[in-house]
This record gives sequence, C-alpha cells and structure tokens, in this order.
Amino acid sequence: ILPKKATIIEVGPRDGLQNESMIVPPDVKVRFIEALQQSGITEMEITSFVSPKWVPQMADAVQIVSESPKNGRQIVLTPNEKGVVRALESGANSVAVFVGVSDSFNKKNINKTTAESMHELKPIVEQLKKDGVFVRACISTAFYCPFEGKINKESTLAICEEFTSWGVDELSVADTIGMADPVESYELFSYLKEELSETVLLTAHFHDTRKMALANIFASLQAGIDRFDTSAGGLGGCPFAPGATGNVATEDVVHMLHHMDIDTGIDINKLCEAIDLIAGYVSKPIESGMYRLYKQ
Ligand code: HMG
Ligand code: MG
Repeated sequence: ILPKKATIIEVGPRDGLQNESMIVPPDVKVRFIEALQQSGITEMEITSFVSPKWVPQMADAVQIVSESPKNGRQIVLTPNEKGVVRALESGANSVAVFVGVSDSFNKKNINKTTAESMHELKPIVEQLKKDGVFVRACISTAFYCPFEGKINKESTLAICEEFTSWGVDELSVADTIGMADPVESYELFSYLKEELSETVLLTAHFHDTRKMALANIFASLQAGIDRFDTSAGGLGGCPFAPGATGNVATEDVVHMLHHMDIDTGIDINKLCEAIDLIAGYVSKPIESGMYRLYKQ
C-alpha cells in the first residue's frame, strides 16, 4: 500500500552545487533557495560547512545561511565540531552530520576511518540534541562503495543504530554512487524499517548515476519509506566518490508521486522556475524529463 503523502527533502543547493565545476555566486544560490521554498519545498539542505580547501564550492556557507529566508527546515551539512560551531553562529537550526559505512570512502571524503568519525561525532550530536537542534545523519555508501563494492546490510544497520542511540531525528540512507537496484532498495529499507525505532525519520537518498533512482524510490515506497532526498534539476554528486553523478531530479520524483496520487505539496512549474535561475550557472544541461517538458 502506497502512502497518501510523501516529503521531499531538497538537496540541490548543497549536494547539487558542491560537485559543480563552476562556482555559483552566493546571491544566485540564495535566490535559488528562495525560489525552491516558493515552489512548496519545506525541508532543504541549503549548504555545507566543510573545509573550503576540500570543497571550494561551499566556501560561502556563512553567507548562504545568514541571507536565506528562514522558512521551514533548513539543514546545513557538516562533518565536525568546527562546522557545527560556524553553522550555529550563522543562525542554522538544523544540522546534518555525515559518515560513510565503508572506511575507504570515509577516508577519501573526511580523511578519517568510519570508527574515528563516529567517535568524533558522538559528543557533537549529543550536545546538539541537548541544545534542541534538529539533527539529521547522512549515511553514505549504504549500498555500495566505489572502492569496496557491495556493503552488507548489517554494517549499514549498525551505523544507523548507533546514530539512533544518540538521539538523531533523521537518518538519510544514501546510494552514493547510484548502483543499487529496486530489489536491493526494497530489501535494505524493509530491513531498516523493521530493525530501527519507529521514532526516527527514515529517508532515502538516491543518486541517479545508472538511471535506477525512480525505480528505487518506487521500491522504497513499497517498503514503507515516504521521505526522499532529491535535487532540483538532478544536479549533484560527491566530489570524493568517483563516478557519482547527480541526485534524482526533484521535478521527476514529484511528477511520479503526484501521478500515483501521492501528495508532496510542491508545484512543478514553480520548481522549474527555480531551476531556470541556476541553469545558466551549471556545467551540464539539465536533463530531467519534467524540466525538458517545461522548456518546450
Ligand atoms: P583535513 O584536511 O583532514 O583536516 O580535512 P583539517 O582539520 O586539517 O582541516 C583542513 C582545513 O580545513 C583546516 O584549515 C581547517 O581549519 C579547515 P587550515 O588550518 O589548513 O587553514 N576546516 C574547516 N573549515 C571550515 N569548516 C569546517 C572545517 N573543518 C576543517 N567544518 C575535513 C578534514 C573533514 C575538514 C575535510 O575532509 C572535509 O571538509 N571534507 C568534506 C568533504 C565533503 O564535503 N564531501 C561532500 C559531502 S558528503 C556527500 O556528498 C554525501 C551525501 O550526499 C550522501 C551520499 O550521497 O552519500 C551526504
Ligand atoms: Mg549525495
């Protein structure tokens, strides 16, 4: 049985723009964020507080947080204490921490093993929860690692359980390199749904590298998932995951959900207007089905 409603967590301003070769000016990013909000998006990753040496595209995080209108849940991503401090100082009220299930990916992405990252994150997350901040935990390479291959579901569950025991509000479980298929998506999300506490929000984050993301979303819906990370225009990818391309396009997911009578509260035309703002600043043409139709 499919749900009547689903929640879209827009990750375009963060996942979408972190992997772009062009640096998008901060005022354009802020207008993009505003336009996305106006299309009906209520939860969004707006930027990340990471090393500007590692990800120069996100060097303007302070400006993005302070200048973006405070509507809905606006999440900023960060892997460490320094990022959390800067994020809270800038006025952020929701924080996403991130870690990879596989050591090799985590090393490439954050320069630490998974265990080292978890050790560092525990007191940070616990303090954020004491301070009443919404905390989301993003779990990369939950299905496949670009260096280690298939990840077993017990390892992914173990990380999810650890985060849950610290009191995180949401787990975003990611197919970082877009390799999972619908059967694997159904199996992992059914397993996580069964094993994890019902109080934690469970979200699916699919990259569309091999064009399986819409099918994976349908499979995840059948496993009881009703929250999806998506990126306007299908932009995105992790600079430290070789071969990863964009997230599944928000407009295509919203269209598919609406067509199946699953409400999202998002207006596709307004979403496409938001994409128009950014289309001239990105290196590749926007190839989503719904944006192409809108442009015809
Ligand atoms: P490091 O070089 O090992 O550590 O980087 P460091 O402590 O020496 O830091 C290097 C420099 O960055 C220092 O500056 C720090 O102060 C500074 P310097 O002293 O050389 O001038 N620095 C920071 N600056 C601003 N904000 C911070 C911060 N932290 C340190 N928070 C580090 C370690 C973790 C910093 C680095 O590896 C890093 O920034 N990694 C982030 C990589 C990243 O952003 N990846 C993409 C996001 S995750 C993703 O896309 C996956 C996801 O979408 C889900 C999925 O699809 O799988 C979420
Ligand atoms: Mg991602």
